Amino acid sequence: MKTITVFKGDGIGPEIVDAVLKILEAAKAPLSYECFEVGAAEYERHGKLIPDAAFASFEKNKVLLKAPITTPIGKGFRSLNVTLRNKYDLYANIRPAKSNSAVKTRFENVDIVTFRENTEDLYVGVEEQIDENTVHATKIITRKASERIIHDAFAYAKEHGRKKVTCVHKANILKMSDGLFLNIFQTIAKEYPDIEADDKIVDNVCMQLVMHPETFDVMVMPNLYGDIVSDLTSGLIGGLGLLPSCNLGSEYAMFEAVHGSAPDIAGKHIANPTALLWSACMMLENLGMEDIATKIRNAVDAVLEEAKVLTPDLHGNATTQAYRDAIIAHL
Ligand code: NAI
Ligand code: MG
Repeated sequence: MKTITVFKGDGIGPEIVDAVLKILEAAKAPLSYECFEVGAAEYERHGKLIPDAAFASFEKNKVLLKAPITTPIGKGFRSLNVTLRNKYDLYANIRPAKSNSAVKTRFENVDIVTFRENTEDLYVGVEEQIDENTVHATKIITRKASERIIHDAFAYAKEHGRKKVTCVHKANILKMSDGLFLNIFQTIAKEYPDIEADDKIVDNVCMQLVMHPETFDVMVMPNLYGDIVSDLTSGLIGGLGLLPSCNLGSEYAMFEAVHGSAPDIAGKHIANPTALLWSACMMLENLGMEDIATKIRNAVDAVLEEAKVLTPDLHGNATTQAYRDAIIAHL
């Protein structure tokens, strides 16, 4: 029995966490859970976005299943996600976007895995007010952080029989920072002669992704592009409700949906828990519980494809609970 830490989050967070934990239970995942309220409501109650006990639990268990958290804009808060990624050096943000035949989109054969560097770039959050009308923001790219994410992308490609890794950058303009990232990419690519390595400029990538997404395989890129481009890949497969992620470091691992707390639909019981559920499947695989992950993935496929129980974001009319119960019935 492995104990994991769970953050319930804001907005739709508690609704989708509830669905995912019930499904994990029904799949007989040998897990026990330490659940914490985190985020805006916790801040109102106790003055901290993440209580100390929640941090302590993650530090003990090393594995975190995390629901989305609302980041208040402009109130002097640092994003909790950025905080967690930096505090625990969760440097590799891996986001697989794969078409599902039950979900109608413009494309059928999307199967793209984005490796987003998670600890630096513009997201170090170093902004400086120069005067009333001017702000500077700092973009940081280091050899250490670039090497490890690029290595991970190639190692993943090799391990999973992938054909190609694409480096996404803007080295034509940001010659030193993205230039360093690209240069390291080209060096590491030589260690993987069996895997095709190419590089593309990020704006061109955005165009090509919406024209010919099937030509992309594994992509690796600095933090900001990774944030944006991976949301774009979610649009190719049917939306944010279907894009899981893991954030891995050498010691800690955090699993979360890519989407946010969706305040526009919170409390309406229509949130799609699939992205968080697939994140939980990535967690099970990471813990060596592949058989249970497969069981859950198969149940999801069956419910989407055969039973056609779909939440409104996928043009169905099922509630979160009805969808959850259909998956549990299938298990
Ligand atoms: P969002 O991802 O919460 O929502 C964007 C749109 O997608 C909304 O229309 C929402 O209803 C829909 N959506 C998202 N997830 C869905 C799901 N599971 N099922 C059905 N529909 C879904 O992005 P938004 O509105 O920009 O951000 C809201 C808050 O979330 C902000 O405070 C932001 O900072 C935070 N956020 C937190 C993240 C995290 O904790 N990992 C990641 C992204 C945003
Ligand atoms: Mg994002």
